[in-house]
Amino acid sequence: MARILLGVSGGIAAYKACEVCRLFVKGGHEVVPLVTPAAERFVTAETFRALARRPAGDDVYLHLTRADILVVAPCTANTLAKLAHGLADNVLTEAALAHRGPTLVAPAMNPRMWSHPATRANAETARARGVVFIGPDEGETAEGELGVGRMAEPEDIVRAAEELLAGSSALKGKRVLVSAGGTREPIDTVRYVGNRSSGRMGVAIAAEARRRGARVTLLGANLAVAVPPGVELVDTPTAAELERAALVHGVDADVVIMAAAVADYRPAEALAAKRPKDSAAWAVELEPTTDVLAALGERKRDGQVLVGFAADEGERGLARAREKLGRKNADLFVYNDVARPGIGFDAPDNEVTLVTPGDERLVAKAPKAEVAAAILDAVEVLL
Ligand code: CTP
Repeated sequence: MARILLGVSGGIAAYKACEVCRLFVKGGHEVVPLVTPAAERFVTAETFRALARRPAGDDVYLHLTRADILVVAPCTANTLAKLAHGLADNVLTEAALAHRGPTLVAPAMNPRMWSHPATRANAETARARGVVFIGPDEGETAEGELGVGRMAEPEDIVRAAEELLAGSSALKGKRVLVSAGGTREPIDTVRYVGNRSSGRMGVAIAAEARRRGARVTLLGANLAVAVPPGVELVDTPTAAELERAALVHGVDADVVIMAAAVADYRPAEALAAKRPKDSAAWAVELEPTTDVLAALGERKRDGQVLVGFAADEGERGLARAREKLGRKNADLFVYNDVARPGIGFDAPDNEVTLVTPGDERLVAKAPKAEVAAAILDAVEVLL
């Protein structure tokens, strides 16, 4: 999810910025609060640090923190004037000059101040520079005057920020189905045949797709990591359950990404009770499961993008991934060389090769969130 600079300037609406901060955190974002000295007359920086779950302590370079977006809420007339003219006399206005990327401003001030020609001109200057405004809304101000000047509601500010973050992504508004984790195939009521997949890669893809404004459904098979906020989870612990859910949800998905390690074989018969231990050998017969990716490939609609994963070893594995791309009617295969240490299964990092019909591209070793972004960049090209 995104890193957000939350600038809070000195108006009574600063108390509402606490809710903005809380909603961003709840949405899975990292919030860096930038509280001006004037805002501290209303709410302390400590309150925002606690809500943003940030460690105490003064960072002298706080204003240089790189972030995906700057949100100023509330933005007073004074701060708006400083933003328009490039003044940098506190942590918030300094950060505004150092920030590159989208900026969302939620003005809050007395209606007469908002309608003053000086403020109008400042808002125009900022807007012309690409700053996006939300509000102010019409209504009763804290001091009891009626007019336009109230800060927009926290939910609306958060929604506008997320829309700005999604930007012009080709995934915005698209339905994305992602499978993640590893299926477990029961042998009896307590034992199973499973694999080492934690679900980190698929979950990182789901989070990134959500960040880009997609409607994301996650087929989760025994996930060891938390489901990202805003992502719909369908529990699919076994290959059979994953198959069923994938065929249902795959029908109207624009993008299907099969990152789960689906069992290729399952016990032909799962015992209805726990098998007690004895000294005899126990032979378990395994039968093949349905290849869900291939089944989705057979049903693929025009314009639908289908992505498969391949965990294999070396150059020969890569050649097999290329062959599977055609055989399973997929548009992109993400190849993981599992012979390499420290990447892939149950690791925080990954290094993959993206295989498309006409191209092959290495994504160098990086945290799975970055690899997820590279995979979705490739999906956007295919869309
Ligand atoms: N997959 C699937 N259904 C299965 C097994 C795998 O949909 N029953 C999907 C996985 O989610 C993954 C891709 O197929 O996207 C992996 O393809 P697969 O041919 O199973 O490759 P590996 O298991 O990596 O390799 P191999 O075929 O050599 O076992």
